[in-house]
Amino acid sequence: MKVLLIGAKGQLATALRPRLEAAGHQVAGLTHEECDLASPAAVSRQLDAHTPEAVINAAAYNQVDRSETAIEEAFAVNGYGPGGLATACAARRIALMHVSTNYVFDGRRDRPYDEADGPNPLSVYGLSKLAGERLVQAHASRSFIVRTTGLYGRHAGRKAGENFVERILTAASNGAPLRVVNDQIATPTYTGHLAEAMARLLATTAYGLYHLTNSGGCSWWEFTRAILDRAGVRAEVQPVSSEAFGSAALRPAFSVLVSRRSAGAGLPPLPTWQEGLDAYFRERGERLH
Ligand SMILES: NC(=O)c1ccc[n+]([C@@H]2O[C@H](COP(=O)([O-])OP(=O)(O)OC[C@H]3O[C@@H](n4cnc5c(N)ncnc54)[C@H](OP(=O)(O)O)[C@@H]3O)[C@@H](O)[C@H]2O)c1
Repeated sequence: MKVLLIGAKGQLATALRPRLEAAGHQVAGLTHEECDLASPAAVSRQLDAHTPEAVINAAAYNQVDRSETAIEEAFAVNGYGPGGLATACAARRIALMHVSTNYVFDGRRDRPYDEADGPNPLSVYGLSKLAGERLVQAHASRSFIVRTTGLYGRHAGRKAGENFVERILTAASNGAPLRVVNDQIATPTYTGHLAEAMARLLATTAYGLYHLTNSGGCSWWEFTRAILDRAGVRAEVQPVSSEAFGSAALRPAFSVLVSRRSAGAGLPPLPTWQEGLDAYFRERGERLH
């Protein structure tokens, strides 16, 4: 299949490209510079130039705290942009896979959220992503929406080396004090594992909403400890509450996702978050040696 990847230099897109190609797809990627998702004219022009059979939208305005004040930008990229893309894809009979987030939930429960649970975002970012989901669902019947959590993986672009794991390792190696929240439970997800699942899903016509993450759950503090242990780095990590950390945007306290639908689409459960971290370290080791 001819697949067009929007947001091609992001960390998820970087993992998707080789896995889609390994599955036999012909992949073209569009960077932010080549196609601004917030511009319907640019999107239509690129769809007509590439004539894909499927589009994966891996682009987003991901600055969760800045979104609280950059409301228009967040909605333009995360809400109206995907809505316009969905309309343009539907008019050309192109299937669309769009990516969303656990931040559509309020996190006030203590059991994992599945696809039937109602969203209630706490932040502008979450609201803008929910708007994107709703517009995609309304305009493109041949669409997949994949909600995921806490992504980390290699970036192809200017943000190479920027993800949670690398930020922790850099801070620890600089001797910077580490303060990490211990009251937000979610599932850190390795982009390689998510990309494999998305490539499998794309080969189906089982359109709809899916929760796809590594399995299990932990706090960011526990995840940080696991990163440092795997890297063999000794460093103190001070657990702090979200309130003490003082981010601009509220985040859900408990937003582990599970899927009721992915087995029906032929997808095996993703590996655990610990296995995701092991896989990331293997990939990182290959890169560095
Ligand atoms: N990161 C996470 O923890 C996380 C968690 C849950 C869900 N998600 C979702 O997963 C998806 C992939 O996230 P990711 O972590 O791979 O993000 P990422 O690494 O930040 O990549 C996003 C890409 O989108 C591009 N982009 C931004 N604005 C754009 C625009 N207006 N037009 C076209 N491209 C634009 C960025 O380019 P520039 O950098 O050049 O602007 C970047 O290459 C997103 O939908 C995100 O909301 C992410």
